[in-house]
Amino acid sequence: MKKLVKTIIKKKLNRYVESKIKSVMSSDFFIPVTETKDEDIFIVAFPKSGITWMQSVVSGLLFEINTEYLTDHLAQEIVPDVHARKFYKRFSEFNFFKSHNLPQKQYRRVIYLVRDGRDALTSYYFFNKELGNNFSLEEMVTEGKGIFPSKWHCHVKKWLENPYNADIIYVRYEDLLKNPLTELQRICKFSGLERNNETLKKIIDGTSIKKMKQRAKQYGGLAHSAWKGEKGEKFFRKGTIGDYKNYFSPDILNFFNNEAKEELAKFNYL
Ligand code: A3P
Repeated sequence: MKKLVKTIIKKKLNRYVESKIKSVMSSDFFIPVTETKDEDIFIVAFPKSGITWMQSVVSGLLFEINTEYLTDHLAQEIVPDVHARKFYKRFSEFNFFKSHNLPQKQYRRVIYLVRDGRDALTSYYFFNKELGNNFSLEEMVTEGKGIFPSKWHCHVKKWLENPYNADIIYVRYEDLLKNPLTELQRICKFSGLERNNETLKKIIDGTSIKKMKQRAKQYGGLAHSAWKGEKGEKFFRKGTIGDYKNYFSPDILNFFNNEAKEELAKFNYL
């Protein structure tokens, strides 16, 4: 008798769990990352342009989260990385996404984050090294080795062309560092978010490189498997402007400046 009751309970429990899983799977919680909405906003950048920082900033803006306590794990849920995720969850009417892609038809609203390509490449060189990809800076700059998804000037050129007529704003990493309040106000206006300056200042403060590094230490690294544990801190290297001057030889600088002349000029980097 006892055995029969146990079996019945187990069966009922299984059915209940199964129905719960099904309802969650069919809700807004497991959407393929390829399925996005026109209202969604894609933060797009050439790698190493400060996009991890932006993920935390827009997480703070969207939900007015106190960024003092915002872990990278949570920011990755709020602003899913299209390259790292198969599925994502929707928490509001529109979602933010992180992407390094060249223009895509379905990206209707875009915040294009741009950083001086010479600094992005310097950062990329150290990033590759940390991951065990030992390309020289020269190989990266001249041959485009170890770089995704294209050379810096091609990425910037394509996003300036904006071939699918996305609604787009361009945000410079350097301006985010120098005038964060003005840049956050621009981002809010573009995103249709009304946030007061007090909130913006708190977000800026909580996403300083020092505090993000400290959080990586406190919470055991970043969400990305390559930056677990103590290694997480190393992701936040310097976060400065003009570091390329310490690493670009005159020849490499000449090559880059020639190849990317127009794009560097367009964003006042020359
Ligand atoms: P450096 O290697 O020059 O220091 P991404 O997130 O796109 O991969 O970019 C990483 C770069 O952004 C690294 O540059 C990193 O230190 C810098 N960065 C990360 N968080 C930052 C922050 N809060 N403020 C300024 N720079 C930051």
